[in-house]
Amino acid sequence: MTVERERISVFDTTLRDGEQSPGCSMNQQEKLRLAHQLDRLGVDIIEAGFPIASEGDFESVRAIAAVVRRPVIAGLARACRPDIERAWEALRDAARPRIHVFLATSDIHLQYKLRITRDQCVAQARDAVRFAKSLCPDVEFSPEDATRTDPDFLCRVLEAVVEAGATTLNIPDTVGYTVPSEFGALIAMIRRCVPGIENVVISAHCHNDLGMAVANALAAVANGARQVECTINGIGERAGNASLEEIVMAMRVRPDQYPYDTGVASEQIFAASQTLSEITGVPVQPNKAITGRNAFAHEAGIHQDGVLKNPLTYEIMTPRSVGVPDSKLVLGKHSGRHALGMRCEQLGYQFDRRALDDIYRRFVRLADKIKHVEDHHLLELIRDTHKPSTSATPLIEPIPAAKAAAVSAPANEPVKPFPAVPATNAFGVPLPVHADPQQEPNQQEDYLWGV
Ligand code: KIV
Ligand code: ZN
Repeated sequence: MTVERERISVFDTTLRDGEQSPGCSMNQQEKLRLAHQLDRLGVDIIEAGFPIASEGDFESVRAIAAVVRRPVIAGLARACRPDIERAWEALRDAARPRIHVFLATSDIHLQYKLRITRDQCVAQARDAVRFAKSLCPDVEFSPEDATRTDPDFLCRVLEAVVEAGATTLNIPDTVGYTVPSEFGALIAMIRRCVPGIENVVISAHCHNDLGMAVANALAAVANGARQVECTINGIGERAGNASLEEIVMAMRVRPDQYPYDTGVASEQIFAASQTLSEITGVPVQPNKAITGRNAFAHEAGIHQDGVLKNPLTYEIMTPRSVGVPDSKLVLGKHSGRHALGMRCEQLGYQFDRRALDDIYRRFVRLADKIKHVEDHHLLELIRDTHKPSTSATPLIEPIPAAKAAAVSAPANEPVKPFPAVPATNAFGVPLPVHADPQQEPNQQEDYLWGV
């Protein structure tokens, strides 16, 4: 039985909320480059910037609107005339423009930041949306700090902006304070209580201060939100925004729990992550889900052995499904002979059992001294251990030192995320990715050696 999956719009705010995070500012050319990658990724809406914030932001939004024509292009504006006019000026040539108006609604913000009453807040939100609507048919409204806003008052504001013409109601957890059950219930309450809500899209915008942004966004979707706001690598104010790749892959890997579809081409995720980190110079944390360097790396012997036999043992999605070239087995002191043998093959050497034992003994001693055994260490070790005429069957001729250095990263070269594991040998012959079915008998030994 095919389960009907509802479509969730992906609103990417890497260029706006993401760009607001320390060290992540981008110039116009860089923003354009990333916008093209977001287009390839298949996001539905690109929030290209906050046009009144600076001349640079204005020009970037305008440039993106002019050339990126498939997705909706949104520009942020506070709930006041000059902001909305400026946003519209930047967006007016977009194929599908959206003005995104926001105004804080929590008492803390009204009292200390805006110094306005609740009644003034309702009036300002309504007037701002009405004005934005007079310029652009697609208007999104965000009650900033919604999760710390009195729920009755929140519904009052939302009702007013729906009447004024808002087409998307975005519910921000501005300070990353909410938890999944509470946020899900808030979305359900809004769906139940705001008149006219059936004609607008509910959106979730979650920050990660308690590490729950993705879980909160998914809870919102489960309760009726049909747009998620997110960023590549989860960058954003303070602890960041909900990460696009985590939301998308949660839906793809667990359709039983999240029966929703997005338009995201998941094979473009890794490229988007790498492009962003190259542009900003901000590296992705190694253990970051989906896009971190270690997300598909396996060092423990048992894990390596399992992955080589069948990746499903320790991988819930294929690296290729998110655009990562191949999983990377990290060779260290916990690695087993199976993984070592496989890496030797990838480097062009095939050893019989006895020869591999020799290599393995030396490998373990070396791995005890240095953390990770890189390819160039391994090549050296192979050369020292075996003269090619003995028990090793080189798939390629032994590599002279200079050439070996060229195929493997020198020790002092900065570590690149996912160093390319050669998929072919020196002759372009594809190397085996999975274990050879004619494996040698003593499987258990590999486990024991590796642990
Ligand atoms: O976090 C937030 O409240 C925002 C709004 C402008 C949507 O980024
Ligand atoms: Zn935000």
